[in-house]
Amino acid sequence: MGDPKDLRDQLMEKVNEVKEHFKEALAELKNLEDLKRIRARFIGPKGEVSELMKSLKTLPKEIVRELGRSLNQLKEEISKHLSELEKKLGEEILRKRLLEERKDLSVRYKPTYTPSIHPLTRIMRELKEVFMGLGFEVVEGPELEEEYYNFDGLNIPSDHPARDMWDSFWVRPGYLLRSHTSPVQVRVMTTRKPPFKVVSLGKCYRRDDLDPTHSFQFHQIEGFIVDKGITFAHLKGVLMEFASRVFGGKRKVKLIPSYFPFTEPSAEVAIDCFRCGGKDPHCPICKGEGWIEVLGAGMIHPNVLSNAGISPQEWTGFAFGMGIERIAMLKYQIDDIRLFYENRLDFLKQFSA
Ligand code: DAH
Repeated sequence: MGDPKDLRDQLMEKVNEVKEHFKEALAELKNLEDLKRIRARFIGPKGEVSELMKSLKTLPKEIVRELGRSLNQLKEEISKHLSELEKKLGEEILRKRLLEERKDLSVRYKPTYTPSIHPLTRIMRELKEVFMGLGFEVVEGPELEEEYYNFDGLNIPSDHPARDMWDSFWVRPGYLLRSHTSPVQVRVMTTRKPPFKVVSLGKCYRRDDLDPTHSFQFHQIEGFIVDKGITFAHLKGVLMEFASRVFGGKRKVKLIPSYFPFTEPSAEVAIDCFRCGGKDPHCPICKGEGWIEVLGAGMIHPNVLSNAGISPQEWTGFAFGMGIERIAMLKYQIDDIRLFYENRLDFLKQFSA
């Protein structure tokens, strides 16, 4: 055995060589396979660092201690460095793969039929256009409504039997999913000064079981005018114009006496059958009656006006409300309301023209 000092220097040189080799190997590293190979080559059981460790065994103690420490440190550094690189490489590979998959998704989408506007959306757009054409403004109201707007403001106090008819889903005391679009009347009347000429369209909710003509969720359109000298004749004129524009031809309107708490007098409104004009006893639309009931209407009750701080001596108005599903079912001859909500392609496809 030679001089321990020479030996120590020689070994230190070897340690430095290993460091150099490691740096060179890193410069060539391209993927996880390379990384595994490098790990085995340097710190694996037969790696360069381990072999150096083994060669210390027969040497004097002070050399073993000093070099052992350096070698352990080197082993730890290499191991840490490789772990970090491994994590980075893994993330890069994952990112690449995700990018490729995302590209695939957008490239391969090809609808198998021409997409279409949902029939309810279509009829709502049409209704808005018709009423805007008649000078109405479109206003939106909330679906989660306060009890006051849904009932009391509309002349339906808490002990009124008509509340049953408009019972809905209560979210907590004082708040419910609105059972009709009429509360929008009260919202407009209490926040603005007349005259008004407004329509409002949107979802409503009722405690109804599903059947071909009922749904717990449906849509309505509400219309109302408040101005000086408004009469029933104005109501009839607007409704005749609406019926002609939506159903085609020149439509007649029949007003049948009825009752609503928020109008006085009130009417059910029927239009003459746009398909057979009352001539076909087997008509699928009017069932041979010649008339189709489509909406409720009336002159706004004086209590509704005065509740909102509007003088019924000075102002009068009319209001009407109708189910949008009903209009669409008549116009497109759809016989089951549930078809609107089931998203069946064979149904929706028919509206893609
Ligand atoms: N809100 C009524 C309903 O849901 C419909 C209605 C009837 C609205 C008469 C009106 C009206 O504005 O005047 O059954």
